[in-house]
Amino acid sequence: MGFCSPVYKILRRGKYFVLLFVSLSVLAWIANFTGETLKSVHDPSATKQPSVQGDSLRDKLNSLTATPQNLNTPTPKVKCPEESSLLQGAVKLSFESSLKLTDVEGENKRVTEGEYEPADCTARQSVAILIPHRSREKHLLYLLHHLHPFLQRQQLHYAIYVIQQAGDATFNRAKLLNVGYLEALKDYSWECFIFHDVDLVPENDHNLYVCDKQPKHLVVGRNATGYKLRYKGYFGGVTAMTKDQFLQVNGFSNAYWGWGGEDDDLRIRVELQKMKIIRPPADVARYTMVFHKRDSGNQINKDRMRLLGRTPQVWRKDGLNSCSYETLSVERLPLYVNVTVDIGKPQS
Ligand SMILES: *[C@@H]1O[C@H](CO)[C@@H](O)[C@H](O)[C@H]1NC(C)=O
Ligand SMILES: *[C@@H]1O[C@H](CO)[C@@H](O)[C@H](O)[C@H]1NC(C)=O
Repeated sequence: MGFCSPVYKILRRGKYFVLLFVSLSVLAWIANFTGETLKSVHDPSATKQPSVQGDSLRDKLNSLTATPQNLNTPTPKVKCPEESSLLQGAVKLSFESSLKLTDVEGENKRVTEGEYEPADCTARQSVAILIPHRSREKHLLYLLHHLHPFLQRQQLHYAIYVIQQAGDATFNRAKLLNVGYLEALKDYSWECFIFHDVDLVPENDHNLYVCDKQPKHLVVGRNATGYKLRYKGYFGGVTAMTKDQFLQVNGFSNAYWGWGGEDDDLRIRVELQKMKIIRPPADVARYTMVFHKRDSGNQINKDRMRLLGRTPQVWRKDGLNSCSYETLSVERLPLYVNVTVDIGKPQS
């Protein structure tokens, strides 16, 4: 013990020296470091030097001096304005035969897997655009070319789904749209659905792709019909219904194979639910219909009048709740989701 205690005293003193030395070094380092950062802030030649280390140190320092609330919490986005300031009104549409899908992808870098949301505000609605499709690649390209910027100017959170009918049985637009609704809801709880023909391009971005308290018909006029409503009660081309409105009418009928009738059937379903179809003003709800010949595989449905007569009796069991199909593939491409389905063929 007697031998140990003087050594112990020295060691204890040593400890204080070490502590003092360490504190002084830290102070010296801090003084030196602040001098350096100040120099780099004030000396333009210093800031030009690539100095990743200095930057990250400065960032660290900044984050240390920042108030705790600002740490790692992005500033909450505000709701997008009632009317987007990006709208342009009537725009001149172009249909260049040289247009390529890669061109359209290059113009829409912020769209991923067909989906987009505004960067600096929270969209007022989340909207799924459903486009039934078979062998109309050129029309689809024109539509994507115009629709993506159009929807972005409207500051919507949206995604575009192309529902591709596999095989060569007669086309069934309505059933494809039922499939699109069911499949899109597996990705996200979309509150609004736009049922969109591939050959109709909107001309005016004041024609808002959002849903209302009532089902909405967006095509009042098209260049092919002198911009007049085709007939009273017409509910085809492009329509908007909320998730709940569409569920309430049990979606479209699955029984319309070939061209025509399925849109009138949907109108009957809507009217049976005492809902009222609304339309935007005629000067806004204008479309250009890209020219095409009647597709083979989409002949006029001669049975449509008979089918329309039985809608009030059968709508409860013919629709979303009886839509049977087989999903063959879901391809998440840059500008749209391609859902390819086998929806069967008409029963004879
Ligand atoms: C409507 O405009 C499109 C695109 O310019 C054109 O292809 C089509 O022929 C026009 N239709 C009519 C009936 O003018
Ligand atoms: C969708 O995918 C199917 C299956 O791969 C393909 O045959 C079809 O061309 C695609 N359609 C579109 C519009 O990308």
